[in-house]
Amino acid sequence: MPRQKTVYVCSQCGATFPTWSGKCASCGSWNTLTEEVPTKKIKSSYIPPKQTRPKPITQAKKEQSYRRISTGFHTLDEALGGGIVPGQVILLSGEPGIGKSTLLLQISSNIAKDRKVLYITGEESAHQVYLRGERIGALTDNLLVMSETNLETAISAVETEKPDFLVVDSVQTIYSSQLESAAGSVSQVREVSGKLTETAKEMEIPVIIVGQVTKEGSIAGPKVLEHIVDTVAQFEGERGHAYRVLKIIKNRFGAAGELAVFSMEDRGLKEVANPSSFFLAERPEGKPGSVIFPFTEGSKPVLIEVQALVSKTVYAVPQRKTQGFDINRLAIITAILEKETGIFLKDRDIFVNIVGGITVKEPAVDLPVALAVISSLRNIPVNPKIAAFGELGLTGEVRSVYYTEQRIKEAKRFGFDRIIVPASTDINEPALIKVRNITEALKVLNEG
Ligand SMILES: Nc1ncnc2c1ncn2[C@@H]1O[C@H](COP(=O)(O)OP(=O)(O)O)[C@@H](O)[C@H]1O
Ligand SMILES: [Mg+2]
Repeated sequence: MPRQKTVYVCSQCGATFPTWSGKCASCGSWNTLTEEVPTKKIKSSYIPPKQTRPKPITQAKKEQSYRRISTGFHTLDEALGGGIVPGQVILLSGEPGIGKSTLLLQISSNIAKDRKVLYITGEESAHQVYLRGERIGALTDNLLVMSETNLETAISAVETEKPDFLVVDSVQTIYSSQLESAAGSVSQVREVSGKLTETAKEMEIPVIIVGQVTKEGSIAGPKVLEHIVDTVAQFEGERGHAYRVLKIIKNRFGAAGELAVFSMEDRGLKEVANPSSFFLAERPEGKPGSVIFPFTEGSKPVLIEVQALVSKTVYAVPQRKTQGFDINRLAIITAILEKETGIFLKDRDIFVNIVGGITVKEPAVDLPVALAVISSLRNIPVNPKIAAFGELGLTGEVRSVYYTEQRIKEAKRFGFDRIIVPASTDINEPALIKVRNITEALKVLNEG
């Protein structure tokens, strides 16, 4: 009998190869190829709800104004663009222990107040879900729990029960008996999410699928998954801290980049209506290395604190460490600072932390990071009334960023009256200090 043919699948991007290699030739990740039995190709593209005939755009509105279902969390509904749409498939990703199951049980119980909800878990027993439900006050008869890892059984339960809302926790623990590969493998993850999406679209049931993230911070087969689902929500937070931030990374039914902030308490997650004051609450005023940054990747900015610690190194190669911020970006900012201001950082360890467990990817954080580094290096606190945002170019220029007006408004709302902004900002207010480059921004720090 011929040996069964296997392929090697990249767990990052889903690309397949006939032979193993240390590096994925498609996405460049290291050590991500795993051996799997090849599977039939599965539809991975978006399956729109029924209705396929073209119509004039003027008549499209009615179809689009679906009745949205509230999650019971006002800020989360807003971040989702007004609630959950029938047939919407949401992927909720996050590290183990961050609170995904807790959040979903709360949402399920909120929706179950006047609808039928099915909560399928492959991670825990029904009793464990009950215990959590008891602790957070989520026990209601309309909420059905099913501990199941077989996809076909799960789908037939959905077809029998016809719930109004479905949770599947998690995609990595559910397997299809049609495939030979193990649960959690790329082909299984693809099959499970594909089938769930098909069911959701056909029956117009909204579904939230949990995706555990790997140590490196990505979901197994992220590209594959992200293309299938309508919405990708990422749950972030710092271990040992109460803050939890839910970021909408992609959304076919609303704007991407929106966020909702929660705090983890004994009785589950509580939404934070005013995140800026939440993040500013523990701010150490009068300490060097702290700068406030109006952060936004969507429509609503949140004031967060950027911290830097610069100290003399004891190593031959100085350390660079970041939390919530790209370490390569820090290397660039350090180089710009050295070149433009003549300061010497090669014998200094530099640590940068975005407080609150938020991961900031937008370039507007460059300027606050640079200012925090300088403040810590010089051991001089930044005026507590200063907030800053702007992208740094390689020649030290401060470049304009999105959502200028909203950022300024949020900073002013919290009493910041010295807001360092890019010179190209076309808003004129006494609170604004427009800077063309990093040298001018540092002058502002000197003036206090
Ligand atoms: N008895 C408890 N009291 C307060 N918080 C708890 C309790 N048990 C668990 N938690 C919180 O819930 C978190 C686990 O949440 P969970 O929803 O299971 O996470 P995930 O599903 O993302 O792995 C823990 O990290 C802890 O913060
Ligand atoms: Mg869980």
